[in-house]
Amino acid sequence: MKITVIGTGYVGLVQGVILSEFGHEVICMDINEEKIRNLNNGFIPIYEPGLKEIMNKNFLEGRLYFSSNIKEAVESSDVIFIAVGTPPMDDGSADLQYVLSCAKEIGKYINAYKIIVNKSTVPVGTGELVEKTIYEVLEERGLSYDIDVVSNPEFLREGKAVNDCLRPDRVVIGYENERVLETMKEIYNVLYLNKVPFFFTNRKTSEMIKYASNAFLAVKISYINEMALLAENVGANVQDIAQAMGMDGRISPKFLHSGPGYGGSCFPKDTRAIVEIGKKYGEEMSVIEAAIYANEKQKRKVTEKIEKNMGNLNGKKIAILGLSFKPETDDMRDAPSIDIIKNLIKKGSTIKTYCPKGMGEASWRLKEVNDKITYCKNEIECVKDCDGLVIVTEWNQFRGLNLKIIREKMKDNFYFDLRNIHCKSSKVRELFKYFPLGQK
Ligand code: NAI
Repeated sequence: MKITVIGTGYVGLVQGVILSEFGHEVICMDINEEKIRNLNNGFIPIYEPGLKEIMNKNFLEGRLYFSSNIKEAVESSDVIFIAVGTPPMDDGSADLQYVLSCAKEIGKYINAYKIIVNKSTVPVGTGELVEKTIYEVLEERGLSYDIDVVSNPEFLREGKAVNDCLRPDRVVIGYENERVLETMKEIYNVLYLNKVPFFFTNRKTSEMIKYASNAFLAVKISYINEMALLAENVGANVQDIAQAMGMDGRISPKFLHSGPGYGGSCFPKDTRAIVEIGKKYGEEMSVIEAAIYANEKQKRKVTEKIEKNMGNLNGKKIAILGLSFKPETDDMRDAPSIDIIKNLIKKGSTIKTYCPKGMGEASWRLKEVNDKITYCKNEIECVKDCDGLVIVTEWNQFRGLNLKIIREKMKDNFYFDLRNIHCKSSKVRELFKYFPLGQK
């Protein structure tokens, strides 16, 4: 099948590559010409483990193309995926300008019946809006091709995106016309044969499933983060609490790890967006609003804890290990490290930092405070002469750090382990004034 994926970001690129791996002929289209040029030269604009190998293989075998020519991309495919960004507007609602601009472009160049599949995370009713927009442009052109707009939300996790697309927990397909079903099954034939569950529903329900899922996970993280705050005060251990809670099949142990607050390109924006959708319909999303509040509080609490234990932070040098919002990604969108660093700098500290993949993006997201930040080439250089160390993101390589050497390089020995990666180490409490989360 011939498929176009519009938007070559974290979702569109991975999706396009995997669809080509499933045997389809795929055009990954993006308006960012530099990105397309780089992709055609074999350079991937994002860090996503395992992607490069599959991309190069399918590119060389002639199933995968990169293009910035929307006309050709629309005309030559049977199915067109929309995978462009839906960033938050000032009030928190999803900005649909990129999705709607795709709809207009599709309407401008469509030349036969096509299925439009929306992968972007969009407010309920967007499928209808995309359909209407395409028909309006077609009417202006004096043409009357038929189209179907399907909702097919994406659930991949950055850092594990390749695996998640090859082996998703489920494929959700929201449709209004049964004639799309055969094609949708054909697109995901490999998954179908591999017995991945398919969930078919109507378009609006499908659109809401994505927000409902992300908001639920955000609530779960905020919940355990609050338990961690309380556990620390009462002298309990949040990891044991989470483990025992997770043994209850109704709760499950996943997403019960306390940390410095959730971040990334999805949870912060999707929680705010669903609250705004609620307002539009007169419904208060009170549980989700509480999770948003708790998440902001969590990031503040982290700085307060550092200040409470290290004393006046003015003039203190603090090492931050891990900047990306989670390990195995270079994505810095809404990463908690940004707020934590800004807060520490506001208190008068200077920062030394190291992250395996996040530093490039961090240096422009933190540009207004960059004069107070030194970006280092490894962990050892990062902690040298520092008063305190803070682990913000749990990259695997930090788990194996030689704590004795780290201590020797540091000036003072405050260690705030916001991911509890060393709390089981026998040495850590001897070497450092050690502060894990939600436990002694
Ligand atoms: P991104 O920002 O990484 O990529 C979006 C791409 O779309 C950019 O390369 C941009 O140049 C391109 N673009 C924008 N307008 C265009 C147009 N008119 N024509 C062609 N290309 C255009 O975004 P990301 O992270 O891939 O997210 C895409 C959507 O998927 C969002 O709605 C997001 O909420 C959703 N999503 C994201 C996940 C993630 O982990 N990043 C996971 C699941 C869903």
